[in-house]
Amino acid sequence: MVEETYFVKTKVANKYDGYIGENIPFYWPALNFIGESVSEYFSDKDALDCIEIGSGSANLSITVSQYIKMKSLLLLDHSAPFLEIANQKLSETPSVQITPILKHASFLSDDWQNDIEPNSQDLILSSLTLDHIADDEEFLSLLKKLQSLLKKGGCFVTAEKCASSSNTTKSWQSFAKMIHIRGENNLKNNFKNASEIEAWKHHNFTEDILRPFSDVWTLVEKAGLTVEYAGGVPLPEPENLNYDTFYELNKIRSFTRQEVFSSEQAFGVAILICKK
Ligand SMILES: C[S@@+](CC[C@H](N)C(=O)[O-])C[C@H]1O[C@@H](n2cnc3c(N)ncnc32)[C@H](O)[C@@H]1O
Repeated sequence: MVEETYFVKTKVANKYDGYIGENIPFYWPALNFIGESVSEYFSDKDALDCIEIGSGSANLSITVSQYIKMKSLLLLDHSAPFLEIANQKLSETPSVQITPILKHASFLSDDWQNDIEPNSQDLILSSLTLDHIADDEEFLSLLKKLQSLLKKGGCFVTAEKCASSSNTTKSWQSFAKMIHIRGENNLKNNFKNASEIEAWKHHNFTEDILRPFSDVWTLVEKAGLTVEYAGGVPLPEPENLNYDTFYELNKIRSFTRQEVFSSEQAFGVAILICKK
Protein backbone atom coordinates (compact mmCIF):
# COMPACT_ATOMS: atom_id res chain seq x y z
CA MET A 1 0.00 0.00 0.00
CA VAL A 2 1.52 3.31 -1.10
CA GLU A 3 -0.02 6.51 0.28
CA GLU A 4 0.43 10.01 -1.02
CA THR A 5 2.34 12.25 1.41
CA TYR A 6 1.77 15.71 -0.06
CA PHE A 7 -1.70 16.60 1.26
CA VAL A 8 -1.03 15.54 4.85
CA LYS A 9 1.18 18.62 5.33
CA THR A 10 -0.37 21.53 7.26
CA LYS A 11 1.07 24.19 4.92
CA VAL A 12 -0.38 22.43 1.87
CA ALA A 13 -3.82 22.05 3.47
CA ASN A 14 -3.86 25.68 4.61
CA LYS A 15 -3.16 26.97 1.09
CA TYR A 16 -5.57 24.68 -0.80
CA ASP A 17 -8.77 26.75 -0.80
CA GLY A 18 -6.83 29.88 -1.71
CA TYR A 19 -5.91 28.57 -5.16
CA ILE A 20 -7.82 25.47 -6.18
CA GLY A 21 -10.96 27.10 -7.63
CA GLU A 22 -8.98 29.58 -9.73
CA ASN A 23 -6.13 27.24 -10.61
CA ILE A 24 -8.54 24.64 -12.07
CA PRO A 25 -11.11 26.51 -14.20
CA PHE A 26 -13.57 23.57 -14.12
CA TYR A 27 -13.24 22.88 -10.36
CA TRP A 28 -16.41 24.68 -9.18
CA PRO A 29 -18.34 23.83 -12.39
CA ALA A 30 -17.58 20.13 -11.75
CA LEU A 31 -18.61 20.30 -8.08
CA ASN A 32 -21.83 22.14 -8.92
CA PHE A 33 -22.52 19.71 -11.76
CA ILE A 34 -22.25 16.85 -9.24
CA GLY A 35 -24.59 18.71 -6.86
CA GLU A 36 -27.19 19.12 -9.63
CA SER A 37 -26.83 15.51 -10.79
CA VAL A 38 -27.20 14.12 -7.28
CA SER A 39 -30.27 16.25 -6.67
CA GLU A 40 -31.86 14.89 -9.88
CA TYR A 41 -30.82 11.33 -8.96
CA PHE A 42 -32.54 11.63 -5.56
CA SER A 43 -35.45 13.82 -6.67
CA ASP A 44 -37.95 11.61 -4.80
CA LYS A 45 -35.95 11.34 -1.55
CA ASP A 46 -36.14 13.60 1.47
CA ALA A 47 -32.82 13.38 3.36
CA LEU A 48 -29.71 11.38 2.60
CA ASP A 49 -27.05 9.46 4.51
CA CYS A 50 -23.77 10.60 2.93
CA ILE A 51 -20.06 9.84 3.01
CA GLU A 52 -17.25 11.72 1.31
CA ILE A 53 -13.87 10.04 1.00
CA GLY A 54 -10.65 12.01 0.53
CA SER A 55 -12.76 15.03 1.38
CA GLY A 56 -9.99 17.60 1.77
CA SER A 57 -11.51 20.91 2.85
CA ALA A 58 -15.07 19.57 2.22
CA ASN A 59 -15.72 21.65 -0.89
CA LEU A 60 -17.68 18.84 -2.55
CA SER A 61 -19.82 18.02 0.51
CA ILE A 62 -20.53 21.70 1.09
CA THR A 63 -21.50 22.19 -2.57
CA VAL A 64 -23.71 19.08 -2.58
CA SER A 65 -25.39 20.21 0.67
CA GLN A 66 -26.71 23.20 -1.30
CA TYR A 67 -28.59 20.81 -3.63
CA ILE A 68 -29.81 18.03 -1.30
CA LYS A 69 -30.71 17.64 2.36
CA MET A 70 -28.29 15.53 4.41
CA LYS A 71 -29.47 13.21 7.17
CA SER A 72 -25.88 12.32 8.08
CA LEU A 73 -22.43 13.09 6.73
CA LEU A 74 -19.17 11.28 7.35
CA LEU A 75 -15.95 12.75 5.99
CA LEU A 76 -12.91 10.52 5.64
CA ASP A 77 -9.40 11.86 5.03
CA HIS A 78 -5.89 10.80 6.00
CA SER A 79 -4.88 14.45 6.45
CA ALA A 80 -5.56 15.84 9.95
CA PRO A 81 -5.05 19.49 8.90
CA PHE A 82 -7.53 19.11 6.04
CA LEU A 83 -10.13 17.60 8.40
CA GLU A 84 -9.69 20.53 10.78
CA ILE A 85 -10.33 23.02 7.98
CA ALA A 86 -13.31 20.97 6.77
CA ASN A 87 -14.80 20.89 10.27
CA GLN A 88 -14.57 24.65 10.65
CA LYS A 89 -16.11 25.31 7.23
CA LEU A 90 -18.94 22.81 7.73
CA SER A 91 -19.84 24.40 11.09
CA GLU A 92 -20.20 27.74 9.28
CA THR A 93 -22.31 26.36 6.40
CA PRO A 94 -26.07 26.91 6.91
CA SER A 95 -27.03 24.20 4.39
CA VAL A 96 -25.23 21.57 6.52
CA GLN A 97 -27.85 21.13 9.23
CA ILE A 98 -26.31 18.08 10.89
CA THR A 99 -23.11 17.52 12.86
CA PRO A 100 -20.72 15.72 10.52
CA ILE A 101 -18.57 12.81 11.66
CA LEU A 102 -14.90 13.34 10.81
CA LYS A 103 -12.80 10.25 10.38
CA HIS A 104 -9.03 10.54 10.29
CA ALA A 105 -8.02 7.40 8.39
CA SER A 106 -6.80 6.18 5.06
CA PHE A 107 -9.35 4.77 2.65
CA LEU A 108 -6.66 2.19 1.87
CA SER A 109 -6.69 0.84 5.42
CA ASP A 110 -8.56 -2.42 6.06
CA ASP A 111 -10.87 -1.24 8.78
CA TRP A 112 -11.94 2.39 8.22
CA GLN A 113 -15.47 1.26 7.38
CA ASN A 114 -15.91 -1.19 10.30
CA ASP A 115 -18.26 1.05 12.26
CA ILE A 116 -20.48 1.81 9.25
CA GLU A 117 -23.42 -0.52 8.67
CA PRO A 118 -23.42 -2.29 5.30
CA ASN A 119 -26.27 -1.16 3.00
CA SER A 120 -26.77 2.01 5.05
CA GLN A 121 -25.65 4.89 2.80
CA ASP A 122 -27.52 6.79 0.08
CA LEU A 123 -24.60 8.69 -1.36
CA ILE A 124 -20.81 8.27 -1.46
CA LEU A 125 -18.83 11.15 -2.93
CA SER A 126 -15.22 11.43 -4.07
CA SER A 127 -13.31 14.03 -6.06
CA LEU A 128 -9.65 14.38 -7.00
CA THR A 129 -8.62 11.67 -4.57
CA LEU A 130 -8.89 8.18 -6.08
CA ASP A 131 -5.95 8.96 -8.37
CA HIS A 132 -3.80 8.49 -5.27
CA ILE A 133 -4.34 4.73 -5.45
CA ALA A 134 -1.37 3.11 -7.16
CA ASP A 135 -2.66 -0.41 -7.55
CA ASP A 136 -5.76 -1.46 -9.53
CA GLU A 137 -6.50 -4.29 -7.07
CA GLU A 138 -6.52 -1.80 -4.17
CA PHE A 139 -8.72 0.52 -6.21
CA LEU A 140 -11.17 -2.32 -6.88
CA SER A 141 -11.14 -3.46 -3.27
CA LEU A 142 -12.02 0.10 -2.13
CA LEU A 143 -14.81 0.34 -4.71
CA LYS A 144 -16.24 -2.99 -3.50
CA LYS A 145 -16.19 -1.69 0.08
CA LEU A 146 -17.99 1.49 -0.98
CA GLN A 147 -20.52 -0.56 -2.94
CA SER A 148 -21.21 -2.69 0.15
CA LEU A 149 -21.91 0.43 2.25
CA LEU A 150 -24.50 1.77 -0.20
CA LYS A 151 -28.20 0.98 0.04
CA LYS A 152 -29.67 -0.68 -3.04
CA GLY A 153 -30.30 2.20 -5.46
CA GLY A 154 -27.65 4.31 -3.69
CA CYS A 155 -25.27 6.52 -5.62
CA PHE A 156 -21.48 6.65 -5.91
CA VAL A 157 -19.75 9.63 -7.52
CA THR A 158 -16.17 9.84 -8.71
CA ALA A 159 -14.47 12.83 -10.37
CA GLU A 160 -10.81 12.39 -11.32
CA LYS A 161 -8.28 13.56 -13.84
CA CYS A 162 -7.76 10.75 -16.33
CA ALA A 163 -5.21 10.00 -19.05
CA SER A 164 -2.96 7.28 -20.33
CA SER A 165 -0.13 6.49 -17.90
CA SER A 166 2.37 6.17 -20.77
CA ASN A 167 4.43 9.32 -21.25
CA THR A 168 4.87 8.63 -24.96
CA THR A 169 1.16 9.19 -25.65
CA LYS A 170 -0.55 12.47 -26.56
CA SER A 171 -3.01 11.74 -23.78
CA TRP A 172 -0.27 11.77 -21.10
CA GLN A 173 1.37 14.80 -22.76
CA SER A 174 -1.90 16.76 -22.44
CA PHE A 175 -1.99 15.89 -18.75
CA ALA A 176 1.66 17.01 -18.33
CA LYS A 177 0.97 20.25 -20.16
CA MET A 178 -2.01 20.91 -17.88
CA ILE A 179 0.27 20.55 -14.84
CA HIS A 180 2.83 22.99 -16.29
CA ILE A 181 0.08 25.50 -17.14
CA ARG A 182 -1.36 25.20 -13.63
CA GLY A 183 2.14 25.72 -12.24
CA GLU A 184 2.46 28.92 -14.29
CA ASN A 185 -0.91 30.07 -12.95
CA ASN A 186 0.14 29.32 -9.37
CA LEU A 187 3.24 31.46 -9.81
CA LYS A 188 1.54 34.29 -11.70
CA ASN A 189 -1.11 34.68 -9.01
CA ASN A 190 1.25 34.18 -6.08
CA PHE A 191 -0.76 31.16 -4.97
CA LYS A 192 2.51 29.25 -4.43
CA ASN A 193 6.18 30.21 -4.56
CA ALA A 194 8.70 28.53 -6.87
CA SER A 195 9.78 25.83 -4.40
CA GLU A 196 6.15 25.07 -3.45
CA ILE A 197 5.35 24.68 -7.15
CA GLU A 198 8.26 22.26 -7.56
CA ALA A 199 6.95 20.16 -4.63
CA TRP A 200 3.42 20.29 -6.06
CA LYS A 201 4.61 19.21 -9.52
CA HIS A 202 6.64 16.41 -7.99
CA HIS A 203 3.46 15.22 -6.25
CA ASN A 204 1.50 15.37 -9.53
CA PHE A 205 4.11 13.46 -11.50
CA THR A 206 4.95 10.83 -8.90
CA GLU A 207 2.04 10.38 -6.48
CA ASP A 208 -0.89 10.89 -8.86
CA ILE A 209 -1.59 7.66 -10.69
CA LEU A 210 -3.13 8.22 -14.08
CA ARG A 211 -5.69 5.87 -15.54
CA PRO A 212 -7.68 6.24 -18.74
CA PHE A 213 -11.35 7.05 -18.05
CA SER A 214 -12.31 3.62 -19.46
CA ASP A 215 -10.18 1.88 -16.77
CA VAL A 216 -12.02 3.74 -13.99
CA TRP A 217 -15.36 2.84 -15.61
CA THR A 218 -14.31 -0.85 -15.87
CA LEU A 219 -13.25 -0.97 -12.20
CA VAL A 220 -16.52 0.63 -11.11
CA GLU A 221 -18.49 -2.02 -13.03
CA LYS A 222 -16.32 -4.81 -11.60
CA ALA A 223 -17.28 -3.55 -8.14
CA GLY A 224 -20.96 -4.12 -8.94
CA LEU A 225 -21.98 -0.55 -9.75
CA THR A 226 -23.78 0.66 -12.89
CA VAL A 227 -22.74 3.88 -14.60
CA GLU A 228 -25.80 6.13 -14.91
CA TYR A 229 -23.92 9.14 -16.27
CA ALA A 230 -20.43 9.81 -17.65
CA GLY A 231 -19.05 13.22 -18.45
CA GLY A 232 -16.22 15.59 -17.88
CA VAL A 233 -13.82 18.11 -19.32
CA PRO A 234 -11.68 16.62 -22.11
CA LEU A 235 -8.25 18.19 -22.56
CA PRO A 236 -7.22 19.33 -26.04
CA GLU A 237 -4.30 17.59 -27.74
CA PRO A 238 -0.99 18.87 -26.30
CA GLU A 239 -0.22 21.08 -29.32
CA ASN A 240 -3.57 22.87 -28.89
CA LEU A 241 -3.36 23.22 -25.13
CA ASN A 242 -1.91 26.48 -23.84
CA TYR A 243 -2.54 28.87 -20.96
CA ASP A 244 -5.44 30.63 -22.71
CA THR A 245 -7.17 27.51 -24.05
CA PHE A 246 -6.83 25.77 -20.66
CA TYR A 247 -8.40 28.64 -18.72
CA GLU A 248 -11.43 28.57 -21.03
CA LEU A 249 -12.27 24.98 -19.99
CA ASN A 250 -15.21 25.35 -17.66
CA LYS A 251 -18.01 23.24 -19.18
CA ILE A 252 -18.88 19.65 -18.32
CA ARG A 253 -20.03 17.62 -21.32
CA SER A 254 -21.54 14.14 -21.49
CA PHE A 255 -19.70 11.13 -22.91
CA THR A 256 -21.17 7.85 -24.12
CA ARG A 257 -19.65 4.52 -23.13
CA GLN A 258 -18.47 4.06 -26.70
CA GLU A 259 -16.71 7.44 -26.77
CA VAL A 260 -14.96 6.71 -23.48
CA PHE A 261 -13.82 3.23 -24.50
CA SER A 262 -12.75 4.12 -28.04
CA SER A 263 -9.81 6.35 -27.02
CA GLU A 264 -7.51 7.20 -24.14
CA GLN A 265 -8.57 10.86 -24.28
CA ALA A 266 -7.11 12.95 -21.45
CA PHE A 267 -9.60 14.57 -19.08
CA GLY A 268 -9.01 17.47 -16.70
CA VAL A 269 -11.85 15.89 -14.79
CA ALA A 270 -13.85 12.78 -15.65
CA ILE A 271 -17.07 12.20 -13.72
CA LEU A 272 -19.05 9.00 -13.18
CA ILE A 273 -22.43 8.96 -11.44
CA CYS A 274 -23.04 5.33 -10.52
CA LYS A 275 -25.91 3.30 -9.08
CA LYS A 276 -25.87 0.26 -6.82
C1 LIG B 1 -6.53 16.93 -4.30
S1 LIG B 1 -7.17 16.79 -2.68
C2 LIG B 1 -8.91 16.77 -3.10
C3 LIG B 1 -9.76 17.24 -1.96
C4 LIG B 1 -11.23 17.35 -2.26
N1 LIG B 1 -11.81 16.05 -2.51
C5 LIG B 1 -11.49 18.30 -3.41
O1 LIG B 1 -12.02 17.85 -4.45
O2 LIG B 1 -11.16 19.48 -3.29
C6 LIG B 1 -6.89 15.07 -2.27
C7 LIG B 1 -7.42 14.68 -0.91
O3 LIG B 1 -7.39 13.26 -0.80
C8 LIG B 1 -6.87 12.92 0.48
N2 LIG B 1 -6.30 11.56 0.40
C9 LIG B 1 -5.34 11.12 -0.43
N3 LIG B 1 -5.07 9.80 -0.21
C10 LIG B 1 -5.90 9.41 0.79
C11 LIG B 1 -6.10 8.18 1.48
N4 LIG B 1 -5.40 7.09 1.19
N5 LIG B 1 -7.05 8.13 2.45
C12 LIG B 1 -7.78 9.23 2.76
N6 LIG B 1 -7.62 10.43 2.16
C13 LIG B 1 -6.70 10.52 1.18
C14 LIG B 1 -5.83 14.00 0.75
O4 LIG B 1 -5.48 14.09 2.11
C15 LIG B 1 -6.56 15.23 0.23
O5 LIG B 1 -7.39 15.78 1.22
